[in-house]
Amino acid sequence: MNRHVEILADQFALIERSRKIVVDLIHEAVNASDRFTIALSGGSTPKNLYAALANESLPWSKIHVFWGDERYVPATHQDSNQLMARQAWLDKIEIPASNIHPMNTTGADPQQDAQRYEVELREFFQKPQGFPAFDLILLGMGDDGHTASLFPHTDALSVGDRLITVGNKDGQPRLTFSVPLINQANYVLFIVAGANKRPALKQVFATQGDEMQYPSRLIQPQGELLWLLDQAAAAEL
Ligand code: 6PG
Repeated sequence: MNRHVEILADQFALIERSRKIVVDLIHEAVNASDRFTIALSGGSTPKNLYAALANESLPWSKIHVFWGDERYVPATHQDSNQLMARQAWLDKIEIPASNIHPMNTTGADPQQDAQRYEVELREFFQKPQGFPAFDLILLGMGDDGHTASLFPHTDALSVGDRLITVGNKDGQPRLTFSVPLINQANYVLFIVAGANKRPALKQVFATQGDEMQYPSRLIQPQGELLWLLDQAAAAEL
Protein backbone atom coordinates (compact mmCIF):
# COMPACT_ATOMS: atom_id res chain seq x y z
CA MET A 1 0.00 0.00 0.00
CA ASN A 2 1.27 3.43 -0.96
CA ARG A 3 -0.46 5.72 1.52
CA HIS A 4 0.05 9.43 0.98
CA VAL A 5 -1.45 12.31 2.90
CA GLU A 6 -1.87 15.91 1.79
CA ILE A 7 -3.12 18.58 4.16
CA LEU A 8 -4.82 21.58 2.57
CA ALA A 9 -5.52 24.92 4.20
CA ASP A 10 -9.29 24.64 4.02
CA GLN A 11 -12.15 22.82 2.30
CA PHE A 12 -11.96 25.02 -0.80
CA ALA A 13 -8.28 24.18 -1.32
CA LEU A 14 -9.08 20.52 -0.65
CA ILE A 15 -11.82 20.46 -3.30
CA GLU A 16 -9.61 22.27 -5.83
CA ARG A 17 -6.79 19.78 -5.21
CA SER A 18 -9.17 16.82 -5.52
CA ARG A 19 -10.59 18.24 -8.75
CA LYS A 20 -7.11 18.44 -10.29
CA ILE A 21 -6.25 14.90 -9.17
CA VAL A 22 -9.45 13.47 -10.68
CA VAL A 23 -8.96 15.36 -13.95
CA ASP A 24 -5.35 14.12 -14.21
CA LEU A 25 -6.43 10.53 -13.48
CA ILE A 26 -9.13 10.75 -16.14
CA HIS A 27 -6.65 11.91 -18.81
CA GLU A 28 -4.13 9.22 -17.79
CA ALA A 29 -6.70 6.40 -17.91
CA VAL A 30 -8.30 7.52 -21.18
CA ASN A 31 -4.89 7.88 -22.81
CA ALA A 32 -3.86 4.43 -21.55
CA SER A 33 -7.06 2.41 -21.98
CA ASP A 34 -9.57 4.66 -23.71
CA ARG A 35 -11.86 4.65 -20.67
CA PHE A 36 -12.07 5.75 -17.03
CA THR A 37 -14.07 4.02 -14.30
CA ILE A 38 -14.93 5.90 -11.12
CA ALA A 39 -16.98 4.94 -8.06
CA LEU A 40 -18.57 7.88 -6.25
CA SER A 41 -19.02 8.51 -2.56
CA GLY A 42 -22.02 10.13 -0.97
CA GLY A 43 -21.91 12.79 1.72
CA SER A 44 -21.51 16.55 1.71
CA THR A 45 -17.74 16.79 1.13
CA PRO A 46 -17.61 15.15 -2.30
CA LYS A 47 -20.68 17.12 -3.45
CA ASN A 48 -18.46 20.20 -3.91
CA LEU A 49 -16.01 18.14 -5.94
CA TYR A 50 -18.83 16.95 -8.21
CA ALA A 51 -19.94 20.54 -8.74
CA ALA A 52 -16.37 21.49 -9.71
CA LEU A 53 -16.15 18.58 -12.18
CA ALA A 54 -19.36 19.78 -13.85
CA ASN A 55 -17.38 22.78 -15.13
CA GLU A 56 -14.65 20.65 -16.72
CA SER A 57 -14.33 19.81 -20.40
CA LEU A 58 -13.60 16.07 -20.35
CA PRO A 59 -14.10 13.04 -22.66
CA TRP A 60 -17.40 12.19 -20.96
CA SER A 61 -18.27 9.42 -23.44
CA LYS A 62 -15.25 7.48 -22.15
CA ILE A 63 -16.04 7.97 -18.48
CA HIS A 64 -18.15 5.42 -16.59
CA VAL A 65 -19.68 6.42 -13.27
CA PHE A 66 -20.60 3.96 -10.53
CA TRP A 67 -21.47 4.37 -6.86
CA GLY A 68 -19.43 2.91 -4.02
CA ASP A 69 -22.44 2.93 -1.74
CA GLU A 70 -26.08 3.93 -1.74
CA ARG A 71 -28.78 4.49 0.79
CA TYR A 72 -31.65 2.06 0.31
CA VAL A 73 -34.09 4.72 -0.85
CA PRO A 74 -35.59 5.59 -4.27
CA ALA A 75 -33.38 7.59 -6.63
CA THR A 76 -35.72 10.53 -6.13
CA HIS A 77 -35.30 10.54 -2.34
CA GLN A 78 -33.39 13.43 -0.78
CA ASP A 79 -30.95 10.98 0.85
CA SER A 80 -30.05 9.31 -2.47
CA ASN A 81 -26.35 9.48 -3.34
CA GLN A 82 -27.35 9.02 -6.98
CA LEU A 83 -29.67 12.05 -6.85
CA MET A 84 -26.97 14.16 -5.20
CA ALA A 85 -24.36 13.33 -7.87
CA ARG A 86 -26.85 13.85 -10.73
CA GLN A 87 -27.97 17.24 -9.43
CA ALA A 88 -24.42 18.44 -8.62
CA TRP A 89 -22.68 17.03 -11.70
CA LEU A 90 -24.10 14.43 -14.04
CA ASP A 91 -27.18 16.36 -15.15
CA LYS A 92 -24.90 19.23 -16.17
CA ILE A 93 -22.58 17.37 -18.58
CA GLU A 94 -22.94 15.59 -21.91
CA ILE A 95 -22.41 12.06 -20.62
CA PRO A 96 -24.26 9.14 -22.24
CA ALA A 97 -26.99 7.78 -19.96
CA SER A 98 -25.50 4.31 -20.47
CA ASN A 99 -22.26 5.50 -18.85
CA ILE A 100 -24.05 6.09 -15.57
CA HIS A 101 -24.40 2.92 -13.49
CA PRO A 102 -26.47 3.56 -10.36
CA MET A 103 -27.15 0.95 -7.71
CA ASN A 104 -30.75 -0.23 -7.92
CA THR A 105 -32.57 0.37 -4.63
CA THR A 106 -36.13 -0.33 -5.64
CA GLY A 107 -36.29 -4.07 -4.97
CA ALA A 108 -37.91 -5.62 -1.94
CA ASP A 109 -34.62 -7.13 -0.76
CA PRO A 110 -31.33 -5.21 -0.46
CA GLN A 111 -29.41 -8.49 -0.71
CA GLN A 112 -30.93 -9.12 -4.16
CA ASP A 113 -30.09 -5.58 -5.30
CA ALA A 114 -26.56 -6.03 -4.00
CA GLN A 115 -26.27 -9.21 -6.06
CA ARG A 116 -27.72 -7.43 -9.11
CA TYR A 117 -25.07 -4.73 -8.91
CA GLU A 118 -22.37 -7.36 -8.50
CA VAL A 119 -23.56 -9.06 -11.70
CA GLU A 120 -23.57 -5.68 -13.48
CA LEU A 121 -19.99 -4.98 -12.38
CA ARG A 122 -18.78 -8.43 -13.41
CA GLU A 123 -20.37 -8.02 -16.84
CA PHE A 124 -19.04 -4.48 -17.32
CA PHE A 125 -15.48 -5.36 -16.32
CA GLN A 126 -15.74 -8.81 -17.97
CA LYS A 127 -14.54 -10.24 -14.68
CA PRO A 128 -16.56 -13.38 -13.78
CA GLN A 129 -14.19 -14.17 -10.91
CA GLY A 130 -12.08 -12.14 -8.53
CA PHE A 131 -12.27 -8.39 -7.98
CA PRO A 132 -12.29 -5.80 -10.80
CA ALA A 133 -10.00 -2.79 -10.47
CA PHE A 134 -11.66 0.62 -10.68
CA ASP A 135 -9.44 3.41 -11.96
CA LEU A 136 -10.60 5.55 -9.04
CA ILE A 137 -12.72 5.03 -5.96
CA LEU A 138 -13.72 8.23 -4.15
CA LEU A 139 -14.30 7.88 -0.42
CA GLY A 140 -15.33 10.08 2.44
CA MET A 141 -15.01 9.22 6.12
CA GLY A 142 -17.67 9.66 8.74
CA ASP A 143 -16.82 11.05 12.19
CA ASP A 144 -17.17 7.47 13.46
CA GLY A 145 -14.47 6.29 11.06
CA HIS A 146 -16.82 4.57 8.61
CA THR A 147 -16.30 4.81 4.88
CA ALA A 148 -18.67 3.98 2.03
CA SER A 149 -21.39 2.17 4.00
CA LEU A 150 -18.95 0.10 6.01
CA PHE A 151 -20.04 1.01 9.51
CA PRO A 152 -18.34 0.03 12.79
CA HIS A 153 -18.93 -3.50 14.06
CA THR A 154 -21.18 -4.53 11.16
CA ASP A 155 -21.15 -7.78 9.20
CA ALA A 156 -20.29 -5.90 6.00
CA LEU A 157 -16.75 -5.35 7.28
CA SER A 158 -15.98 -9.05 7.11
CA VAL A 159 -17.35 -9.78 3.62
CA GLY A 160 -14.41 -11.07 1.63
CA ASP A 161 -15.97 -13.07 -1.20
CA ARG A 162 -18.35 -10.57 -2.79
CA LEU A 163 -18.06 -7.27 -4.61
CA ILE A 164 -21.19 -5.72 -3.15
CA THR A 165 -22.79 -6.27 0.23
CA VAL A 166 -25.45 -4.76 2.44
CA GLY A 167 -24.26 -2.26 5.03
CA ASN A 168 -26.17 -1.35 8.13
CA LYS A 169 -26.47 2.14 9.54
CA ASP A 170 -28.55 2.13 12.73
CA GLY A 171 -30.72 -0.62 11.31
CA GLN A 172 -31.12 1.07 7.92
CA PRO A 173 -29.81 -1.04 5.01
CA ARG A 174 -27.33 0.43 2.54
CA LEU A 175 -25.64 -1.10 -0.48
CA THR A 176 -21.86 -0.86 -0.36
CA PHE A 177 -18.67 -1.96 -2.04
CA SER A 178 -16.95 -4.63 0.02
CA VAL A 179 -13.51 -4.03 1.51
CA PRO A 180 -11.72 -6.27 -1.01
CA LEU A 181 -13.40 -4.53 -3.94
CA ILE A 182 -12.27 -1.13 -2.67
CA ASN A 183 -8.77 -2.49 -2.03
CA GLN A 184 -8.52 -3.73 -5.63
CA ALA A 185 -8.71 -0.15 -6.96
CA ASN A 186 -5.85 1.41 -8.91
CA TYR A 187 -6.39 4.59 -6.91
CA VAL A 188 -8.37 5.37 -3.76
CA LEU A 189 -8.92 9.03 -2.90
CA PHE A 190 -10.27 9.99 0.52
CA ILE A 191 -11.49 13.56 0.90
CA VAL A 192 -12.04 14.45 4.55
CA ALA A 193 -12.75 17.90 5.98
CA GLY A 194 -13.83 19.37 9.28
CA ALA A 195 -12.78 19.32 12.93
CA ASN A 196 -15.43 16.70 13.70
CA LYS A 197 -13.29 14.15 11.86
CA ARG A 198 -10.20 14.66 14.08
CA PRO A 199 -10.81 11.91 16.65
CA ALA A 200 -11.60 9.25 14.06
CA LEU A 201 -8.67 10.29 11.84
CA LYS A 202 -6.31 9.93 14.78
CA GLN A 203 -7.55 6.35 15.30
CA VAL A 204 -7.49 5.49 11.61
CA PHE A 205 -3.89 6.71 11.22
CA ALA A 206 -2.61 5.18 14.47
CA THR A 207 -0.05 2.37 14.08
CA GLN A 208 -2.20 0.06 16.17
CA GLY A 209 -5.97 0.25 16.19
CA ASP A 210 -9.33 -1.48 16.00
CA GLU A 211 -10.37 -2.00 12.39
CA MET A 212 -13.85 -3.06 13.46
CA GLN A 213 -14.31 0.19 15.37
CA TYR A 214 -12.68 2.35 12.70
CA PRO A 215 -13.46 0.67 9.37
CA SER A 216 -11.48 3.20 7.29
CA ARG A 217 -8.39 1.38 8.66
CA LEU A 218 -9.39 -1.55 6.45
CA ILE A 219 -8.82 0.47 3.26
CA GLN A 220 -5.32 -0.54 2.21
CA PRO A 221 -5.44 -0.72 -1.58
CA GLN A 222 -2.78 -2.40 -3.62
CA GLY A 223 -2.79 0.73 -5.76
CA GLU A 224 -2.38 4.35 -4.74
CA LEU A 225 -4.04 5.67 -1.58
CA LEU A 226 -4.24 9.42 -1.08
CA TRP A 227 -5.88 11.10 1.88
CA LEU A 228 -6.75 14.73 1.16
CA LEU A 229 -7.43 16.45 4.48
CA ASP A 230 -8.12 20.02 5.43
CA GLN A 231 -6.20 21.49 8.37
CA ALA A 232 -9.32 21.38 10.53
CA ALA A 233 -9.54 17.61 10.17
CA ALA A 234 -5.80 16.92 10.33
CA ALA A 235 -4.99 19.07 13.39
CA GLU A 236 -4.26 16.12 15.69
CA LEU A 237 -2.28 13.91 13.30
C1 6PG B 1 -22.60 8.23 2.42
C2 6PG B 1 -21.13 8.24 2.18
C3 6PG B 1 -20.43 8.23 3.51
C4 6PG B 1 -19.71 9.55 3.60
C5 6PG B 1 -19.29 9.84 5.00
C6 6PG B 1 -18.65 11.22 5.10
O1 6PG B 1 -23.33 7.51 1.75
O2 6PG B 1 -22.99 9.04 3.28
O3 6PG B 1 -20.69 7.32 1.32
O4 6PG B 1 -19.52 7.20 3.69
O5 6PG B 1 -18.58 9.54 2.76
O6 6PG B 1 -20.44 9.77 5.82
O7 6PG B 1 -19.59 12.16 4.70
P1 6PG B 1 -19.16 13.73 4.68
O8 6PG B 1 -18.05 13.83 3.70
O9 6PG B 1 -20.42 14.42 4.26
O10 6PG B 1 -18.74 14.07 6.07
